[in-house]
Amino acid sequence: VRAMIVLGIETSCDETAAAIVTEDRQILSNVVLSQLDEHRPYGGVVPEIAARAHLDHIDRLVSQAMEEAHLGFADLSGIAATGGPGLIGGVIVGVMTAKSIAAVHDLPFLAVNHLEGHALTARLTDDVAFPYLLLLVSGGHCQLLLVEGVGRYALLGSTIDDAVGEAFDKTAKMLGLPYPGGPSLEKAALQGDATCHDLPRPMLGRPGCDFSFSGLKTAVRHIAEALPRPLPVQEQADLAASFQAAAAASLVNRCRNAMTALADSHPEVRTLVVAGGVASNQTIRAALTGLCADHGYSFVAPPPRLCTDNAAMIAWAGIERLRLGLTDGLDFAPRPRWPL
Ligand code: KG4
Ligand code: ZN
Repeated sequence: VRAMIVLGIETSCDETAAAIVTEDRQILSNVVLSQLDEHRPYGGVVPEIAARAHLDHIDRLVSQAMEEAHLGFADLSGIAATGGPGLIGGVIVGVMTAKSIAAVHDLPFLAVNHLEGHALTARLTDDVAFPYLLLLVSGGHCQLLLVEGVGRYALLGSTIDDAVGEAFDKTAKMLGLPYPGGPSLEKAALQGDATCHDLPRPMLGRPGCDFSFSGLKTAVRHIAEALPRPLPVQEQADLAASFQAAAAASLVNRCRNAMTALADSHPEVRTLVVAGGVASNQTIRAALTGLCADHGYSFVAPPPRLCTDNAAMIAWAGIERLRLGLTDGLDFAPRPRWPL
């Protein structure tokens, strides 16, 4: 039998994206249109602007993904779209587009949970078998999960306040760094001294796998407020580096607790996968690499362009679901909230 080929569509936040992926793990096309310029004047994503921009661009992006893959719709095995969680106007645009193509060409439709897309990306890019420990770190989510199979996710811990990407974004704004905050904070930190400020390491020493980042963010605010405005470039860099080091240490500490707990309950878990936009951060990747070396774990991090929002991960999750017969009806309703 021919390998399955799935078109994926992602519109849940501020990236409009379409991609085509095969069952044998080839990415035939992967187009992403970022709406950064539309949202920059507001310092954050404006849902109504995002929805309209998705609508303006989605048809062209799907055509582009099909052309780059040299395929027609009749060559596809299914159409996958992010069905949630996310900004609902955008999710509706992606889901309606996917349903229309599926209906016209009589193809299966797959509603993919955006988090499942992030969670399964490592199986597209690397030879990762179930079960594995997953650190899912993005702008809206910060969780540790035990991934036992497609659709089988056990939550080990999550944030009690901000997601780590949200903390990066808010801290960057506070330091006067350009939008979008996460990548510009990482860039500023390259010129900074991470030992300059002794910031709190959130949750260190506490049992369990929950996260917290609002205290760290507030600690940076107190230091920044005592400095002249606009912040001198070196102060920006030192605070960025100190914040990033504290955030990385906290993530490592929570993952270590998860590894210790799993050593008893699930000794077969030997792999840590990191996913989500924050997984593109090099300091965090290096810190997790060290942790895995200490615990005899292998460490898997997809390439940065597959960590931030993209449609290849949605197409791949669609393939994983299609293989199991987990298709969705055309009556699927987009979900603003949808826990894994
Ligand atoms: O997965 P993603 O693209 O969208 C969501 O599903 O949230 O993640 C976006 C988040 C943002 O908070 C962004 O600031 C953060 O990931 N991010 C980073 C980096 N690149 C993106 N955070 C730290 N360092 C980065 N290099
Ligand atoms: Zn995401």
